[in-house]
This record gives sequence, C-alpha cells and structure tokens, in this order.
Amino acid sequence: MMRSEPRALQLNEHGQLKHFLTLDGLDNTILTEILDRADSFLSMGEQSVKKVPLLRGKTVVNLFFENSTRTRTTFELAAKRLSADVINLNIETSATSKGESLLDTLKNLEAMQSDMFIVRHSDSGAAHFIAEHCTPNVAIINAGDGRHAHPTQAMLDMLTIRRHKGSFDGLKVAIVGDILHSRVARSQLQALTTLGVSDVRLVGPKTLVPSFFAEMGATICHDLEAGLNDVDVIVMLRLQKERMKGALLPSESEFYRLYGLTEETLAWAKPDAIVMHPGPINRGVEISSEVADGKQSVILDQVTNGIAVRMAVLSMAMSGQLQSEDGSATGDEK
Ligand code: NCD
Repeated sequence: MMRSEPRALQLNEHGQLKHFLTLDGLDNTILTEILDRADSFLSMGEQSVKKVPLLRGKTVVNLFFENSTRTRTTFELAAKRLSADVINLNIETSATSKGESLLDTLKNLEAMQSDMFIVRHSDSGAAHFIAEHCTPNVAIINAGDGRHAHPTQAMLDMLTIRRHKGSFDGLKVAIVGDILHSRVARSQLQALTTLGVSDVRLVGPKTLVPSFFAEMGATICHDLEAGLNDVDVIVMLRLQKERMKGALLPSESEFYRLYGLTEETLAWAKPDAIVMHPGPINRGVEISSEVADGKQSVILDQVTNGIAVRMAVLSMAMSGQLQSEDGSATGDEK
C-alpha cells in the first residue's frame, strides 16, 4: 500500500496541524507556535484553577500498546486540563499482532465516537497507519512508535531548552547513549535542525551510533570528551535493551566507564550546561545520581513542560480537525 507523505497527512488545507505524527515536514513556524502556546499553558499550571474549556465535550482515548508512565500520565493530565473526557486503554500485544487487530481496535473505538487517539506502539509507523485509516475529523497523536518518532517528547525537550537558554541561536547540543534504538533522538534531531541548531552531536559506541545519522545533519562522535566539549545542552538516553537483538555492548559497567555522565565527565561541557533525560533513568548505567539530582539537571522540568506541550499539541490538532474541509461537515456535531 502507498503511504501518504507525512506533511500531507498531518496538516489540513490551511497548513494547520490536524494530526501530530512526526516532526518530519513541519517547519520552524509551526514548531515555534507549539512552543509559544505551551509557554502560555505553563503559566496556567501555576494558577489554582488549571482548566480551560478548549476540548470540552471531546473524548480523548489514550491507546497505549507499550508501557509508559510519564508520557501516558502527562497526556492524560493535558487532556483533562483542556476539559476533555479521557479514557485510558493499556493493551498488551504480541509482536505479531499488527494490521488487522490494530484496525479492529480502532474501528471499535471510533464507533464510540472518540475525537482523538493518543497512540503508543512498538511498531514504527503505527500512528501513521492509524491516521491513514481513521475516519475524517478524528485526530491522531503519536506518543512514540517503535524507533521512529516521539514528537511530543522532542517538543517538550525544545521547550525546556528554550526556557533555560533563551533561544536556540548558536547552541551546541550533545545527545548521548543508545541513539540507534531511540525514537526520542530521531525526533530531537529533526526539531533541533528545524529550529536552527547546527551543532548537534550524537555520542556513543559505534554499535549504537551508526554513521548514517550524519545524513540527518548530526556530527557522529564515539568519544565522550570530544562529544561533550563546550556544549550547552546534554541529553542522556537509556540503553533500550528491550529493542536490542544480540550483544551490542560489552557490559553496562563498560558503557558507564566510557559514556556515563558523572561529575567528572560533565565538567567537559560548558559550566552552565543543562542536563536532560527523557526518562526512565538508569542510575549508574548512563548517568550518576549526583548528576541526575544535581543543580544542572532539568529532568523534572521536562516532565512539567510535557503537560504544557501536550496541551498545545492536543488543542492545535483538535482545532485543525474542526477547520479542515473533511471535518467541517461533521466536526461540531459529535
Ligand atoms: C522514551 C520513550 O518511550 O521513547 N521515554 C519517554 O517517553 N519518556 C525513552 C525511553 O524509553 O528510553
């Protein structure tokens, strides 16, 4: 089957988001709109009444085929703060149940008049597949698909960087660890490139940082000191052992010795560098407790910023659906 091009699939005819599947094909203007909108929702989070009615009367389904704590919960909070009704489905799947069963689940949920699906799946392309097959005016938000993309995570990371560094101008960013299996690294690289960051280094062993990433605009570094030298932002990633087929590493302790972020290795970065991690953290494998809990760590800010970014994306996609030709016939009648 022919795949629709991501840009055509996720934007309506006015160029507004109607699904959020990948950062591929989205320009600086739309990414900046997400960040600006998220900034305004962040100030709302500090008020005693945290709700706005932007999704009132809408039903949002959290459709998680893969485990998650932070992402599922912050999507749920985001939808609730927008006044939506939220349903959580945690579906255990085997690696073989794809295509038909996914479509069947989807059709059943559509029959319950859902307005939005937030999808996490271990198959790359699952959210895209659902967006191609759902009925018009149902918004699909990708909450992580295989190794492919995790666009809301990348955008909450961009918000965290912008709030700490003021802008993206001239920043040097190192993403360290298991890049090969990371949908977060792929989406971050797209976001950073689109927002004008030209010095992005992907750091880790050859087995986990293959050279083809250089084609996406990054510098490949197999030496931690060179990778961290003078950077403003460090993103640490977990070893995704559940996605590793065969031995890609000598041992965790060897990985920590060569690529672990400790107080000593952090000193190679700029003194005011921020330390980020999408979670879950493996202390003593990719990061020391001193650094994870230290004053340069912004790991918990990322979680808070995640709610605001998800509110921004959900509200933009819902309004993009309502204003699209497809949706206008039925969008307000649900
Ligand atoms: C990441 C994911 O699921 O891709 N975590 C997250 O969403 N907070 C990264 C990971 O699992 O290592």
